[in-house]
Amino acid sequence: MCGIVGYIGRREAAPIIVEGLKKLEYRGYDSFGIATLDNTLHLDKHKGRISENPQVASLLKGKIGVGHTRWATHGIPNDANAHPHIDCTGKIALVHNGIIENFTELRRQLLSRGHLFKSETDTEVIVHLIEEAYGRKRNLLDAVQEVLPLLEGSYAILVISLTEERLIAARNASPLVIGIGDGENFAASDMTPIIEHTERAVFLEDGDIASITRGKIEIFNKNNPVSRPVELIDWSQEDVKKGGYPHFMLKEIYEQPQALYNTIRSVDMDNLPKILRNPQSVTVVACGSSFHAGLIFKYLLEGACGIPARMEYASEFKYFPPPVEDLVIGITQSGETADTLAALRQAKTHNCRTLAITNVLGSTICRTVDNTIFMRAGPEISVAATKSFVAQLAVLMQVINCLCGRKCDDILQHAHQAIEEVLLMDLTDAVNLCKGASDIFYVGRGPFYPLCLEGALKMKEISYIHAEGYAAGELKHGPFALLSQETPVIALCMPGETYGVMVSNIKEMKARGAPVIAIGCRTDTELSDIVDIFIGLPKTPMFVQVLTTLVVLQLLAYHTAVSLGCDIDKPRNLAKSVTVE
Ligand code: F6R
Repeated sequence: MCGIVGYIGRREAAPIIVEGLKKLEYRGYDSFGIATLDNTLHLDKHKGRISENPQVASLLKGKIGVGHTRWATHGIPNDANAHPHIDCTGKIALVHNGIIENFTELRRQLLSRGHLFKSETDTEVIVHLIEEAYGRKRNLLDAVQEVLPLLEGSYAILVISLTEERLIAARNASPLVIGIGDGENFAASDMTPIIEHTERAVFLEDGDIASITRGKIEIFNKNNPVSRPVELIDWSQEDVKKGGYPHFMLKEIYEQPQALYNTIRSVDMDNLPKILRNPQSVTVVACGSSFHAGLIFKYLLEGACGIPARMEYASEFKYFPPPVEDLVIGITQSGETADTLAALRQAKTHNCRTLAITNVLGSTICRTVDNTIFMRAGPEISVAATKSFVAQLAVLMQVINCLCGRKCDDILQHAHQAIEEVLLMDLTDAVNLCKGASDIFYVGRGPFYPLCLEGALKMKEISYIHAEGYAAGELKHGPFALLSQETPVIALCMPGETYGVMVSNIKEMKARGAPVIAIGCRTDTELSDIVDIFIGLPKTPMFVQVLTTLVVLQLLAYHTAVSLGCDIDKPRNLAKSVTVE
């Protein structure tokens, strides 16, 4: 977690870094800081969000600088623990994203050699180690190069020194990208702060260290010069702005038809069989919403062609790996989720073939697995996953089509149109019921069960209302005890094999006094007659029903959270990219 930005060029660095950090707040926002260089090292860092407090930082002078927005891991959010961290001489400044696992021992050694620490962070050891190495080495690049092997854990760092006109960047297991400008260069955790300045980018790999001046970028790995490809990033500047929507989350919900359409078409169906290679079984590892997408995949794949699919929480897999063979798929929007990365590494030790489905080009996962399929959701800024979930389902449907020997059918090609229709629905009655509740249950069967998990996750993470998703048949095995007039139940009840039993379940819940909001087929008068609030969706094939129902659940959570005055895009205690276990 944490976002970092660096700049070197002809312009004043601070305003560029401030704007960049605001765009990275989705990676963490409990404190921020900036350091710039002219003939002195200027520093400004504070507890809180840069978007609420950018004034002083923007005024710092100098055409070289680094900045940081933090998600605390070591040390509480306060001014002292905010980055950048400065060495004892006051000449070197450093920002870091990641965790230095052996910092306690390094700190002890540094203290015994007389260094003064100003923070409780793991990060500060790095800047003091560089300070020592700088005393022995010719330049900052060599000094950082000497220090990196001492660090255990993950890092993306940017370092500046009063004595040199350059930025040093290095990464190991945390993302870092360099933006190539004209007489100026940028570095950041991802492209969102860079895209308004340049679309040319170089993604550093693990073990890379880069020396960045105004006009030159040199990259080394294990002390040898290496060249990394320059990628052209096709995100528009609008992609990273709110585009007139009150929140990124709503913008991203509305971008789902496009995300679906683009992703379905981007999967290379000619190459897919070479990647998948007719597996006997598939294991999927993921966390959070990505786990729910995987669970829908399991239901649909097994239903379509009987290939066994096992769904595992990535956080459990690392420590309790089940017997795995053949193909292991990791699903991760960010491509940086520590547990998913660890699970895939573990799978490799079992000689499994590994495939990642991710939204972020150049993310760590791409270098961890044998093959990667990119979704085309575009940058997802809001902490709550929405359009990336739809894009994951799009890729997974193409995987199912390939494994079942089917072509991408008309239904999939036109699914985005059904979503567009649902985006315009009025959910006021359902929102009014939900916003007054302390607990909400979501129930469904088959692929609609993981949708219940996803709907409940969206509701709890952004509205802070306690919500639970259940396979509908499970409610009477315990949770029925909680049903009352105060506990709304959201029942996903589409036409199909389980329709009859779902209607019976709904009647049982009604008999216990629970108000029921049913999401069903628009023409279903039997259902609309027995429930309190009925949300009717267009009649479509099953996979499209999954998508349209999902959108209703996202909008319900969104509007409920808005009506409660919640911080939609940055829910409390959460960060977008979970790079720690
Ligand atoms: C929920 C949400 C999280 C993520 C989870 C995995 O809205 O966003 O549950 O789905 O942290 O993240 P990725 O997909 O980046 O691995």
